[in-house]
Amino acid sequence: MTVDEDQTARPAAASPELEGRLGFGAVFTRHVVAARYADGGWSGATLQPFEAISLSPASMVLHYGQAIFEGLKAFRAADGSALIFRAADCARRFRRSAARMGMPELPEDVFVEAVRAVVAEDVDQVPSAPGCSLYVRPVMFAAEPSLAVRASTEYVFLVVASPVDSFFAAGRTMIDVFAMRELIRAARGGTGDVKCAGNYAAAMVAKSAAVAQGYDEVLWLDAVEHRYVEEFGAMNCFAVTGRPDDGTATLVTPPLAGTILPGHTRATVLTLAARRGIPVVERPLALDELTDPDGSVTEVFAAGTAAGIAPVRTVGGSEGVLRKLGDEPGPVTAALAADYAAVVRGAAPAEDGWLIRVPG
Ligand SMILES: Cc1ncc(COP(=O)(O)O)c(C=O)c1O
Repeated sequence: MTVDEDQTARPAAASPELEGRLGFGAVFTRHVVAARYADGGWSGATLQPFEAISLSPASMVLHYGQAIFEGLKAFRAADGSALIFRAADCARRFRRSAARMGMPELPEDVFVEAVRAVVAEDVDQVPSAPGCSLYVRPVMFAAEPSLAVRASTEYVFLVVASPVDSFFAAGRTMIDVFAMRELIRAARGGTGDVKCAGNYAAAMVAKSAAVAQGYDEVLWLDAVEHRYVEEFGAMNCFAVTGRPDDGTATLVTPPLAGTILPGHTRATVLTLAARRGIPVVERPLALDELTDPDGSVTEVFAAGTAAGIAPVRTVGGSEGVLRKLGDEPGPVTAALAADYAAVVRGAAPAEDGWLIRVPG
């Protein structure tokens, strides 16, 4: 399947002068790639103008929620080209998500080519300011008009792109997180380790509650004991125990045990920590351990494509502030954030397959 580079009308969208006040996901580039699945196969993916699409009111996604998505970024490199980060890994995760949701798997090369085509067509819309990037959002949803309670036989695949700056409030350099004890995000055997839309729909009320109390993000706990840290609303969780100055710093992150998303930023951070010789332990991490001011945890940060590496300032819960970690990022967080920023912009070596270069 090839992407047909069909040129049509170009609705006004983001422009470079918007940089610095882009927000997250509020403006879009001029084109999308779209493909349809019907009769057991995918149609050719075509580049099209960004415009409204028409859907039957009986489309199954509206009733039963069969929808999955991905999120990846293109960054502006110093030489003016755009670098797409970890597209092949997203294609693999998209396939896994589709399988879990009873949806047809999209060939990974089609996914990657669709992402590349969207970035290449509107490469002028990849922002260059520090902290800015082009967020690329592939999505697949059930399109068959039917109320039958079964998997749809028709699907739409779309890739849209949005020039973005900060995921959190503009100017925010550290985040305050709210440990959620009343609601859960995922249990074993559920869908917590795939990127289906329903995971996010069910989490909105928790995010709203956290924001209403002055926090930036939800920190989800395990579904059984409400005791162990799982991940944030759209990011994986890392803690640093010990300190780099006395050689005791260790990176700790919850294991991939079926209830958290296997984040590509998480995987990248593990590689970057190994490059720096920082030991990494994947093990259950109790909330009490995170919030104990006399314990071994010295830093906490969130890691995800949308937010990058976000140092945590405060951990709170329904009883109020549980721990203040400090107003500045800790040394390990700062070092890994700098490494990450360098790798995604091509200023430090990437592993094989991490970057696709698109001429600027
Ligand atoms: C629930 C959740 N956890 C973690 C992540 C981080 O994943 P990645 O680093 O691949 O963006 C995301 C982002 O997509 C997410 O939605």
